Amino acid sequence: MKQIGLHEPFFTGKEKKYLIKCIDENWVSSSGKFLNLFQRKFQNITKGKFLSPVLNGTIGLHISMIQAGVSKNDEVIVPTITFVATINSIKYVGASPLFMDVDEYLNIDEQKTIEFIEKKTIFNNGYTYNKITGNKIKALVVVHTFGNAARIEKIFEICKKRKIKLIEDAAESLGTKYNSGKFRNKHTGTIGDFGIFSFNGNKIVTSGNGGIVVSKNKKDSLKINYLISQAKDDKINFIHNEVGYNYKLSNISAALGLAQLEKLNLFIKRKKSIRDYYKKKIETIKGVKILESPKYSQNNNWLNLVQISKKEKMKKIIKKLNSNGFQSRPIWHPNHMQQSFKKNYKYKIKKAEEFVKSIICLPSSVSLKNKQIDKIINLIK
Ligand SMILES: Cc1ncc(COP(=O)(O)O)c(C=O)c1O
Repeated sequence: MKQIGLHEPFFTGKEKKYLIKCIDENWVSSSGKFLNLFQRKFQNITKGKFLSPVLNGTIGLHISMIQAGVSKNDEVIVPTITFVATINSIKYVGASPLFMDVDEYLNIDEQKTIEFIEKKTIFNNGYTYNKITGNKIKALVVVHTFGNAARIEKIFEICKKRKIKLIEDAAESLGTKYNSGKFRNKHTGTIGDFGIFSFNGNKIVTSGNGGIVVSKNKKDSLKINYLISQAKDDKINFIHNEVGYNYKLSNISAALGLAQLEKLNLFIKRKKSIRDYYKKKIETIKGVKILESPKYSQNNNWLNLVQISKKEKMKKIIKKLNSNGFQSRPIWHPNHMQQSFKKNYKYKIKKAEEFVKSIICLPSSVSLKNKQIDKIINLIK
């Protein structure tokens, strides 16, 4: 039986045409016109000014950590509910995650984060120190989880005041913008010092593998572009004055990504109608509710989640859906409970541990049919 995935790629545009062009014109690696066109299209959509196309979102996080100056023995504040790549990128530079709880949208709990910074840290000589460990807190990552824009206004202010670099993990939130408040009309991922996007096959648009880093400052962006291209100072004599990385996106990926970006509005429309349909149907089931998205933003509705009031039924529902050909699973296991990160500092985490026992991810691909949603609903019932 063919399984209906949670988020499958959908190709109906110029993907093949652009890919063939790359091959015909012999531009398949880290240079070529599609890299420029892809970035221009992305810039049009997000208004993000300074861009660095990278091989994937994880690499985008890694290079942002480096450019944010995060290094050995530093700490980075991060929500416990996120894909493990967010946390791994902190480890790659020898720093430690400092775990926060999440709010009702599964994003970093703004109130607890502010409370932690105000009560448990001190500001000295231009750095914020964790009072308990004595380590510097160099960065804070907000994750726009499952396409939901995170509450960011107060976090933005305190990061500025405390000289903490703000990194937005917008891997899942292409198409999600704020529609009220200080950041009205701003696209997620374009507010912090760095914002990263992913174009993995499971995202709203894909370039196979791929990512983009949006930098707030030109200087940071130039440095990132230098680092991701092997830190080449002299192209003829191959002089490298720093340790660089082979992290740049390929023209092939950019070609695929461009064709997908051209369809983004259509994908967002379909995602919205899938969300509305699920919502209408799920309202008829007692003890199950769809997780709402924030009213302060226009959401890309990347993934649909339901919360089950009888937690003991969750495993059974997941098993039933999977055995009938519909992929489903709980949300990510909270990272502060993962083997590799158990010893790291965590602050008043409560909701995250509850949510992982009661929330189920449901198929949400652009290609999903209403008839298939009806089947999913019947299985849950
Ligand atoms: C929240 C989040 N952060 C980071 C990543 C990493 O992106 P990539 O798979 O492109 O490395 C992903 C997705 O895969 C993600 O969902």
